[in-house]
Amino acid sequence: MYPLLLFSHSIVRWFVVLTLFLAIYRGVRGWQGSKRFTQTDDSIRHITATFSHIQLTLGYLLYFNSPFIAYFRSHFKEAIGQFEFMFFGIIHIALMTIAVIILTIGSSTAKRQESDLAKFRTMTIFFIIAALIIFIAIPWPFSPLSARPYFRALW
Ligand code: HEM
Repeated sequence: MYPLLLFSHSIVRWFVVLTLFLAIYRGVRGWQGSKRFTQTDDSIRHITATFSHIQLTLGYLLYFNSPFIAYFRSHFKEAIGQFEFMFFGIIHIALMTIAVIILTIGSSTAKRQESDLAKFRTMTIFFIIAALIIFIAIPWPFSPLSARPYFRALW
């Protein structure tokens, strides 16, 4: 179960990042160019929010299945002093949960806006804030906070 969850959580991160990037691109383009908010834009908004929810679910499942987090929770006093444990045990999950909440509020607010301009503007602003938080909290191989590989093998 744990290897499958870690593998999925690592892969789905790319879907989250790529759909967010695409949604922000479409958002800026539509907002600045006063374009029509098409069915394609709405699907991209929806798919982006869906991938973030899938990743959130995988993250919480991982939290309760990871031997790394199990150690953190059972040796809290000693482990909290080590940044790697603090990062995954607290910082990563707190920032990611906040980012997905912001993304979800932006997605549902954009959906309910009357004008196309307001839809693009709302989606763009909320998604950029969420993307910045997500980018900081992902343990990229080059991250100064915590480094994990770009891809995880399942076997
Ligand atoms: C958009 C949201 C998220 C993204 C993009 C993301 C991304 C990642 C990535 C890339 C890793 C490294 C995987 C690896 O070691 O190969 C990771 C690890 C981890 N994530 Fe997330 N994550 C997100 C949300 C969450 C949430 C909400 C939780 C828990 C509530 C969570 C819990 C964890 C845990 C516990 C690990 C470390 C697991 C271990 O090493 O045993 N993640 N995450």
